[in-house]
Amino acid sequence: MNDLVFIGPPGAGKGTQAQRLVSKLSVPQISTGDMLRAARKAGTELGRKADEFMSRGALVPDEVVIGLVEERLELPDARTGFVLDGFPRTVPQAEALDRLLGRMGRGIAHVILLEVPDELIIERITGRRVGESSGRIYHIKYDPPPSPDRGEGGERLLVRDDDREEVVRPRQVAYAAQTAPLVAYYATKGLLRRVDGVGSVDEVTSAIFRSIGVV
Ligand code: AP5
Repeated sequence: MNDLVFIGPPGAGKGTQAQRLVSKLSVPQISTGDMLRAARKAGTELGRKADEFMSRGALVPDEVVIGLVEERLELPDARTGFVLDGFPRTVPQAEALDRLLGRMGRGIAHVILLEVPDELIIERITGRRVGESSGRIYHIKYDPPPSPDRGEGGERLLVRDDDREEVVRPRQVAYAAQTAPLVAYYATKGLLRRVDGVGSVDEVTSAIFRSIGVV
């Protein structure tokens, strides 16, 4: 079963690598960040609630995100596997995921920890551009779009509004305080695969494939 989880600091490259992994494995990418941003854009009650936290770089409360992921994992396309990107992010979220997968008779195969030093993170985040309709992630220098303001197929490119430097810092603090404890949580279970996230996007992809035995 291809039940995979990415963890790592904001801007480490989780979304970029998750997009590559899902096309290789033909399973869905489940990104709680993307789901919450879609809810914000649609102006739903969930989106308004999430916005209170996301706009200041804080984590959205566990019960909100856990409910979202539970509903998503029950959809038919996740039956043969999934790549979770951005969830779990706290120990209670990880415990809820274990319980949910246990009830479904399945379990996580690998947790990929992307390790990138702080000094590279700001450059990665401030250079990020995202395709408006496809969600394809670019970097103006390291993974450049066809033109500075247009992605493949001519779609508009957006800058995420939590990519401002004053919001990035609280996101890093939230990671250190609330998400970093998951490293020990998954290491104890023998599921943690540490991958060096420094290098080109292709080099990191190859290292991830090696770490989980995909050729
Ligand atoms: P979320 O969207 O999950 O953001 P994040 O974890 O902070 O991670 P990012 O999306 O910023 O980075 P990434 O690691 O995916 O990097 P990327 O591949 O884009 O969450 C946003 C917010 O939503 C949170 O702050 C929180 O409020 C809320 N939220 C979401 N999930 C939640 C949860 N479970 N619980 C509670 N709250 C939740 O890459 C970054 C840039 O680097 C790109 O430009 C890319 O092209 C470039 N790049 C990638 N790889 C390389 C490379 N090897 N070399 C050079 N550049 C590279």
